Amino acid sequence: MKVLITGGSGLIGSSLTKQLLDEDIEVVHLTRSAHSKFGIKTYEWDWKQKKIDENCFQGVTDIVHLAGAGIADKPWTMRRKHEIIQSRVNTAKLLFDKVKELQIPIKSYISASGIGYYGAVNSDKVFSEQDKSHDDFIAKSCVYWENSADLFQEVGARVVKLRTGVVLAKNKGALTKIDKTVKLGIGAPIGTGKQAVPWIHIHDIANLYYQVLQNKEYKGVYNAVAPEFADNEMLTKTIAKTLNKKMFLPNVPSFVLRTIYGELSDIVLKGSSVSAEKLLKSGFEFKYPILIDALENIYKK
Ligand SMILES: NC(=O)c1ccc[n+]([C@@H]2O[C@H](COP(=O)([O-])OP(=O)(O)OC[C@H]3O[C@@H](n4cnc5c(N)ncnc54)[C@H](OP(=O)(O)O)[C@@H]3O)[C@@H](O)[C@H]2O)c1
Repeated sequence: MKVLITGGSGLIGSSLTKQLLDEDIEVVHLTRSAHSKFGIKTYEWDWKQKKIDENCFQGVTDIVHLAGAGIADKPWTMRRKHEIIQSRVNTAKLLFDKVKELQIPIKSYISASGIGYYGAVNSDKVFSEQDKSHDDFIAKSCVYWENSADLFQEVGARVVKLRTGVVLAKNKGALTKIDKTVKLGIGAPIGTGKQAVPWIHIHDIANLYYQVLQNKEYKGVYNAVAPEFADNEMLTKTIAKTLNKKMFLPNVPSFVLRTIYGELSDIVLKGSSVSAEKLLKSGFEFKYPILIDALENIYKK
């Protein structure tokens, strides 16, 4: 097995790369600017110019597509929305065109996707993989993203799409934004606090990619979320408890976030519960199925 990872320099990609290297599996990265964090070969691409260093495919058996502009990094202007979609979809299409043209015998193509597929709807429904996509911006982005992954079926690859929840990790990703105020002793739930926050520990998401690469039984789409449901209030209070911080302030009103972040605020003000049932039935074993255990591992280890 030789795995090509796009966006391998990021949160999930770094953790997955370490795990694959620990298992003596060869890994190469495809990146916008070659910088080798792990002592592995990195190759450059410029998807906007449709340029890719074709050497990256040499001997590659499996591709993991993680690249994409940060969803919550900047306000959602029209330009940013295009970047969010195209950095996932046009990159996948570029990979596909090259794999087809160069006749690279890819066994599997594993793509990130998001639980945003189900939309941010604040309902009591628990969404599973058979449910339809919603029609807001993030949901549509996920549909385009997943459709671009499906292209790889044409070249006989096993395609897997992981609809990922909020990845919890130490000093990285979404948690650093959420825990900032808690650490300062001014943490409070946001909006009603009742909006669902499907989550997964970094160890489990990296291990899931590893298991999916190894096991041919994984095909199609899976919700990559921990089994325990959490809402914004539970997450904020559990962070505070783990950090031994008190929470005494009222919830942050929704309009404050809407005024500052516009449409982007929906991703924290709204949320849908997502089921881990299919993943559990597949035999995947979570190391951190419970939120308090995940946070204790992150903050206390
Ligand atoms: N972390 C989460 O909570 C979460 C939740 C749901 C879904 N996901 C999805 O899972 C994937 C990996 O997540 P992550 O947290 O590891 O992401 P990340 O830390 O933001 O890393 C993504 C990588 O994508 C590349 N990238 C960034 N902007 C790009 C652009 N405009 N065009 C092309 N490539 C770009 C970068 O790699 P180079 O600089 O090396 O090119 C970056 O390291 C992402 O697509 C993300 O949307 C993540």
